[in-house]
Amino acid sequence: MSSLELEKINAAKAALEYVQDGMILGLGSGTTAREFIKLLAERVKKEKLNIIGVPSSFDTRILSHKLGLSIAEADEVDQIDLAIDGADVATKTGLLKGGGGALTREKVVAYAAKKFICIVDSSKVKERLEGKVVVEVVPFAYNTVMKELYKFSKKVGYRVADEKIGPIITDNGNFLLDVEMFVKDPKRTEIELKNIPGVVESGIFTKFDKVIVGTKDESRIL
Ligand code: 5RP
Repeated sequence: MSSLELEKINAAKAALEYVQDGMILGLGSGTTAREFIKLLAERVKKEKLNIIGVPSSFDTRILSHKLGLSIAEADEVDQIDLAIDGADVATKTGLLKGGGGALTREKVVAYAAKKFICIVDSSKVKERLEGKVVVEVVPFAYNTVMKELYKFSKKVGYRVADEKIGPIITDNGNFLLDVEMFVKDPKRTEIELKNIPGVVESGIFTKFDKVIVGTKDESRIL
């Protein structure tokens, strides 16, 4: 196992300590969130816990199902007690998410939760919020949105699928635009992007309670 894989597992283990019987949990997407979901399923089985998971992607839904977790859609629960998810870049004041294209449902789940804990390995921790800002757009608006995004960066492109011709289609039936940029003011940029007509959501996350960084032996709080 690589050291980064070990760090992901250790971050996931630390997040598992926040889980209590009876909770409704927001389940993130991606390889780090997967480690958490696997550990959660083991614990639920072992301790016979009453937990309901709200998956943030089809991928997480399928995994949770396979592992025997009880799942519900966001409109089937009254509240989400705690959400756990990974990130592509993590700083103290902002996260970049959406590498796996699940940013919109991830944000819906994380922002609706009473508490959102982000879990990352050390490669994700940066001083500056810089990298790929993912923007989910309704297909009709991709070109007009792209024009607006050039005001933020010269490097803007739409994400193309690997085993399908043309653009990736998200779990919500939309396109993804990737914008390479430095996000100086995460809260402001998150709002500015959201204000462009046709934008569904961006991968800038500014509402979170904690970032747990896995280390090779255990974990630390960012
Ligand atoms: C998916 C995400 C993921 O949380 C993010 O890409 C991190 O993934 P991983 O844990 O595989 O590095 O935002 O849309």
